[in-house]
Amino acid sequence: MILVTGGTGTIGTELVRLLRDRGVAFRVLARNPAKARVLRAAGVEVVEGNLEQPQQVEVACAGIDTLFLLSPVDPRQDEIQGRAIGAARRAGVPRVVRVSGAGARAGAPVSLSRWHAATDTRLEESGLAFTLLRPSYFMQNLLMFASTIVGQGAFSIPAGAAAVAAIDARDVAAVAAAVLLAPAAHENRAYELTGSAALRFDEMAEQISATSGRAVRYVPADPHAAGASMRAAGLPDWLADGMLELYASFREGAGARVTADVHKVLGRAPLAFETFAQDYANVFAPPRKA
Ligand SMILES: NC(=O)c1ccc[n+]([C@@H]2O[C@H](COP(=O)([O-])OP(=O)(O)OC[C@H]3O[C@@H](n4cnc5c(N)ncnc54)[C@H](OP(=O)(O)O)[C@@H]3O)[C@@H](O)[C@H]2O)c1
Repeated sequence: MILVTGGTGTIGTELVRLLRDRGVAFRVLARNPAKARVLRAAGVEVVEGNLEQPQQVEVACAGIDTLFLLSPVDPRQDEIQGRAIGAARRAGVPRVVRVSGAGARAGAPVSLSRWHAATDTRLEESGLAFTLLRPSYFMQNLLMFASTIVGQGAFSIPAGAAAVAAIDARDVAAVAAAVLLAPAAHENRAYELTGSAALRFDEMAEQISATSGRAVRYVPADPHAAGASMRAAGLPDWLADGMLELYASFREGAGARVTADVHKVLGRAPLAFETFAQDYANVFAPPRKA
């Protein structure tokens, strides 16, 4: 029996679909009662609970063989996930499969990567068996710009002319499912998950244009202006700063590395950006006239 956390998010929604299709025994920890109801209606076992409440995590972990651990970006991530790992250990869970991030290492220039490194180390030292998934930038992040793409035919990111080996989040879910289905084969390993090619954002814009029928331009943003707009849009300082650090690392070339790990685990190439652009073309397409 598997406990899936983050099962209502970008990776988790796809992971739940894959595990259900394969008839695997799993339950989802969900904090939102309305989302829990939707999952139950789809035949998924749900335990209502909050990752920030270790006792609720411990109850949800009863009889579990593997904890799939995912929580959103947060400066408290290490504290929250550390307590969840402790709860899993107390409940007798032998292994954890955790979503970390590309570039996770102590001393990394990007705060989000340092937080992931701290939690990775904590898990490695926990005595539990583990598998770490370290995905690159998600293609799905571009969905955040859907309204400016549709409205203005442009999106703006402070990435300059950086090339990024973005990954389709559906591949992260597919790798997670493969690991959860055969955990012993992946025990105590870390996978660096990237797409199969590093593209510049203007090249991604070209592919979105080709598939959506909307001419789309990438406009490299000035980092200071981008920071100001993120804060004006309500992003907390830690997140705006973290995103600016991430894009600065991309401008230094840190996002361009392509790995073979998706292929190693799945036996197929990662989904191409073109496939992402085709599959989400309706999100980027201009509204149809009545
Ligand atoms: N985006 C990227 O480019 C990227 C790249 C590399 C790594 N990552 C890593 O991927 C992870 C995020 O994955 P994602 O994008 O799939 O997540 P997401 O879409 O942000 O979803 C977060 C999930 O966690 C759940 N959740 C949040 N707080 C919770 C709590 N206190 N208790 C229980 N559940 C809680 C959410 O539930 P609700 O539905 O109730 O909110 C949701 O299911 C992060 O660790 C991030 O660093 C992201």
